[in-house]
Amino acid sequence: MRGKSGVALSVAALACFSFLSTVAGTSEPLMYTGLSNYTFPDDFIFGVATSAYQVEGAWNVGGKGESMWDTYLHKHPNYTADGSNADIATDSYHNYKEDVKMIQYLGSSHYRLSLSWPRILPKGTDNYISEDGKRYYRNLLEELIKANITPMVTLFHWDLPNPLMDLGGWTNPKMVDYFEDYARVVFELYGDIVKVWTTMNEPHQHCYNGYGTTYFAPALNAHGIGEYLCTHYILLAHAKAYRLYDKEFRPKQHGQLGITLDAFWAEPKNASSQEDRDGAEAYLQMHLGIYAHPIFSGNYPDFVRQRVDNMSLQQGFTRSRLPYFSQEEVEMLKGSSDFFGLNHYTSYLMSPCAGENYQKPSMDDDTGVCLEQHPSWTKPGADWFSVYPEGFRKLLNFVNNNYVQKNNISIIVTENGLCDHGGLKDYERIAYYKKYLYQLLLAKNLDNVNIQGYVAWTLMDVFEWSDGYKTKFGLFHVDFNSPERTRTPKLSAKLYKEIVRTRQIDFDYLSPESSRYQSNKL
Ligand code: NOJ
Repeated sequence: MRGKSGVALSVAALACFSFLSTVAGTSEPLMYTGLSNYTFPDDFIFGVATSAYQVEGAWNVGGKGESMWDTYLHKHPNYTADGSNADIATDSYHNYKEDVKMIQYLGSSHYRLSLSWPRILPKGTDNYISEDGKRYYRNLLEELIKANITPMVTLFHWDLPNPLMDLGGWTNPKMVDYFEDYARVVFELYGDIVKVWTTMNEPHQHCYNGYGTTYFAPALNAHGIGEYLCTHYILLAHAKAYRLYDKEFRPKQHGQLGITLDAFWAEPKNASSQEDRDGAEAYLQMHLGIYAHPIFSGNYPDFVRQRVDNMSLQQGFTRSRLPYFSQEEVEMLKGSSDFFGLNHYTSYLMSPCAGENYQKPSMDDDTGVCLEQHPSWTKPGADWFSVYPEGFRKLLNFVNNNYVQKNNISIIVTENGLCDHGGLKDYERIAYYKKYLYQLLLAKNLDNVNIQGYVAWTLMDVFEWSDGYKTKFGLFHVDFNSPERTRTPKLSAKLYKEIVRTRQIDFDYLSPESSRYQSNKL
């Protein structure tokens, strides 16, 4: 999923192997066996997630407009790893009732989904609302409510209406108004039954990969400027939608609205090196703080402001490549999220590298840090993805200390999960969920991090952006060769169901080594 350009993966052996015990930073023994001592409280939310472009298919059905991903992949059919696109995907447009049954099977109380902006507003603007789009989401949402599943709805999960992309996408300041208009339409249409909203999904991945590199559509590669413009206007669009909801809709609809930010955990490569510690901090500020700080404190972090201003100056720019917020915008941004939606998958080891490996100018060059993953961390399905569960606990603490406590809000983990190459007996995914959820419990119970819920990514194998269908994250397998897109639960679906049911983690359950569960039949 993530661009390799941002993660200069070095396979160089790491000198210091003992760091794994030191970076764990906890006296709690990491015993991934037996039954954990900790339970998830009754009001802890368990959910599963998908997103519109990755599952719906029906790209041109019912008058739907094209998203920029539709257009880009039609124009560049070899862009994805397997030459695929999401024209059909899991065909959830037609199979949504089955999806709801699968969520019921898991016992999950929440379903995080996104709306396709161009399915509702085919041209992107609110002068024409599609009847078919309106009806599709009404039916889906009502099906969920009937099944006692709470929808958590994301407004923007990367599938921008293509006519707006033609206007420059998120580099165009007018997008802030267009997003507000779209938000008003959907609050009016569904605010009666949707009570948990997030505005944007992972603006960092979207802007960095799509505007700063070529790894995601629209592949602008406008590095050094594009990713910052995208960041700036996405933040303002989010805040505007928040203020709109707060003022006009919350009084009658009584919902919550937040944003989903993503972060890798940044671990200093050598914990005793001040330079590496500074590098890790720089990474977190440049990639997470740049979003979280404006939303929770009103403006870009001082570190980011100074770094990009100085680099711009040195490079001969007369103005900073990172735009400035006005005082009015700062006020609009500050406190514009009712919870911290956090997506997390993996961790990296950080050390300074003076940007020699990066394009100039670029966000990577501005950050000046090289990323690698420890050779002992398993890599089950993609270059960018290694398993380091302890990083999750550290990230939860970082988010809690810097943003959550100060704003008296809570964290909802809006995505977490493992990618592999497929298969129903997905023991690596099982181990991942157990370990990552255990780290969440440690953060919650020992570190007092305020975590309200956890959403697994993903309900089923989906279209994985530039990886196409090559990497799989699903709890359910999808047969992409069958016209029905037949879904089958993997062993991990059974595990997730058991965790949700018992509210506990039993490390021996569905463990390949365990004799306590003789048969791990599906
Ligand atoms: C982040 C994104 O929100 C989602 O669309 C993607 O499939 C997963 N992470 C896995 O890469």
